[in-house]
Formats: sequence, C-alpha cells, structure tokens
Amino acid sequence: MEKKSLLYEGKAKKVYETENEQQLIVEYKDDATAFNGLKKGTVAGKGIINNQMSNRLMQLIEKSGVPTHFIQELSKRETLVKRVRIVPLEVIIRNISAGSFSKRYGVEEGIEFDSPTIEFSYKNDELGDPLLNSYHALALKLATKDEIETIKDYSFRINEILKKIWKECGVILVDFKLEFGKTADGSVVLADEISPDTCRLWDAETKKKLDKDRFRRDLGGTEDAYAEVMSRLTGYLSENR
Ligand code: TMP
Repeated sequence: MEKKSLLYEGKAKKVYETENEQQLIVEYKDDATAFNGLKKGTVAGKGIINNQMSNRLMQLIEKSGVPTHFIQELSKRETLVKRVRIVPLEVIIRNISAGSFSKRYGVEEGIEFDSPTIEFSYKNDELGDPLLNSYHALALKLATKDEIETIKDYSFRINEILKKIWKECGVILVDFKLEFGKTADGSVVLADEISPDTCRLWDAETKKKLDKDRFRRDLGGTEDAYAEVMSRLTGYLSENR
C-alpha cells in the first residue's frame, strides 16, 4: 500500500490517503508538544516506539474483543489503519491520581483509586480541550447516547486489558487517553494511539516515570524511558506468544 496525498498533519503524526478510500496510512514523527502546543521539542526515536507499541497493544485489545482501527504495520514509522471519523472526545481513564486530576482536586499524585474514573474532554485545540460530561457531549451532538455508552464500555474494558499487560511488565498504568472513531458502516472503533505519549506509566518498584511526563516536566531521560517501556513490552510479548 502506497501513501498518496497528505490528509492531515497533527502534532505527532501525519495521516495519508491511500488508493483504498477506506484505508489511511499513519506516519509517526519524533515531534513532541505539551500544554496545547506551547512547549515544543523532539524525542529521538519516539515515532518508532509509539508506532510499534500502539500496534502491539491494539492487536492485544482486538484479540480481547474490542475493535480497533489497526490493519497492518507497514514500516517502523508507518501503519495502515481503517479510515474513521474521529469522535471529538478525548476519553481519560485514571487508576491513580496524577496530572490534571491532582491539580484540579488538590490531591497528591500516587493515590490509588478503589475503582477507575472516566472523564471526557472536548477535542478542540482552540478551546484548550475543555472538560465535559456525557450530557454536554450529547448537547453538543459530539456523539449519540449509544455511542457514548459503547465508548465508556470499551474504555473500561481496555483499561482492564492494559493494566494486566503492564503489570506483567513491572509497570503501573496510572492513567491514559483514548480516542475513538466511526468507520464507514457507523461502528465505533478505538483509534489514534496508545503509547508513552498518551499514558502515564510508572515503574512498579521505584515509581519512576516512564512516559511523556519526563518531557512535559523537563525531567530528562525521555528517550531512555520510552526505550525502557518498549523493551519490557517486547519481553512480555515474546514470553506470551
Ligand atoms: P492529564 O492528567 O494531563 O489530564 O492527562 C491524563 C492522561 O491523558 C495522561 O496519561 C496523558 C494523557 N494526555 C494525552 O494523551 N493528551 C493530552 O493532550 C493530555 C493533556 C493528556
């Protein structure tokens, strides 16, 4: 499958059309941004890791019964995916307090929740991705009631799948962001990516941050952290084939 015209360039990925109208090619870049594009940088090799990690995780998620956009990995940085219309909701699942949750509610990071939380934000850079609830999403016609129910159900199921995988890797899944899309036939599938850009991953023993917070907070060692989680996942996959 060949790349044709560039359809869209985002902060971390480019999306190309292909000769098949229902399939797109995603190309992962090393560019990193934070705080709605205010902070810019590059993380060498990030595009390769995010492409490969996202694909491996989506394959495992698909195997567990949640549909995804993944079709085929084409190269180190490129993947063939189903063309979807992205539902303009960012879905955030949290198992442990951190980031904007800690800031908003004035609690320290690292508090384990009895059960996971879900929140939505309106995917809109101009507005700074404002937080909203499912009633707001319905009012704004961002998705139907059924679609929101499906998205919630899939998101909690994905959390259980990912928590288990990362636990086996000696990593705590603190929180993560998902995006869903609708295919031509109207079905909801997991889209975008699952990577250290979109998840908080802490070493289970030391609680060391192994994700994009190293870049966001200028902690250093971002490249090494990404490589570390990828190598642990690769180890897990080779033992669980
Ligand atoms: P938050 O604590 O800043 O709200 O982030 C929650 C999770 O969502 C965290 O794992 C990082 C991820 N995330 C994104 O993937 N994209 C974003 O633009 C933001 C703000 C967070």
